[in-house]
Amino acid sequence: MAKTDGILRSGIEKLRAEIALKKLDRERIPAHVAVIMDGNGRWAKRRGLPRIDGHKAGADSLRSVVIGCTDLAIRYLTAYTFSSENWQRPTDEVSGLMELFREQLEREIDELDGERIRVRVLGRLDEVPAETRASFESAMERTAHHERLQLILALNYGGRLEIADAARRLAQEAVSGSRTVESIDADAVASRLYAPDVPDPDLVIRTGGNLRISNYLLWQSAYAEMCVVEKLWPDFRRSDFFRALTEFQHRERRFGRLTSED
Ligand code: FPP
Repeated sequence: MAKTDGILRSGIEKLRAEIALKKLDRERIPAHVAVIMDGNGRWAKRRGLPRIDGHKAGADSLRSVVIGCTDLAIRYLTAYTFSSENWQRPTDEVSGLMELFREQLEREIDELDGERIRVRVLGRLDEVPAETRASFESAMERTAHHERLQLILALNYGGRLEIADAARRLAQEAVSGSRTVESIDADAVASRLYAPDVPDPDLVIRTGGNLRISNYLLWQSAYAEMCVVEKLWPDFRRSDFFRALTEFQHRERRFGRLTSED
């Protein structure tokens, strides 16, 4: 019965995704989408499961969204995988997550490589446990030449930390005489962020219903559109992703300018 249920659910989801896909304007697909994958813990709690089972189910949602990005030729997807504050969670959750990242990467790497997806990490990878770090380093190395989609995993990442790291580098350059203090402007800061070649996100999607940015891409999301979805991340599928993109396409982006209606 459970198996039949699963087949039925995936058939319905496939249909929903096809319908949602048809509503999208292919001329206005964002180049860069960022996601805050929130709600894994709540999803697990509602089912009486350990939190790590919510994160495991969340890995499947990330897979669906990656496929959604390739369907639409989206060039960059950044996913908030582990924040620099997440170390404060219970030790078994942190070690479970590190283990899950490693297992998941090792399970998916052949397909990611085959689909020409480049894996990158945004954050302080050097502070991550050695085995997990090695999996990320090997995935990054193996896929470094791919250009179809960049899957950027924000890992041990914090927006304030990233800006502080950029400020420190600029200060060091000024002290060493390789740049002047006057040359430090917004472009200079942007050039010293962790992935300066990646364009700013056009859209940030947050699941789980909370209306906050949680120290995510603080500099880069200055003019991003926000889309907050009530669904918990493990329930988020390709059809939900396409619906969020439709919402984005109905927004008028202003970048601080006035429009004819103002
Ligand atoms: C936040 O939900 C989610 C995380 C801290 C982890 C997200 C990780 C994954 C989905 C796995 C992805 C796998 C790879 C390989 C990158 P929460 O625990 O804060 O949820 P809550 O708000 O319900 O407590």
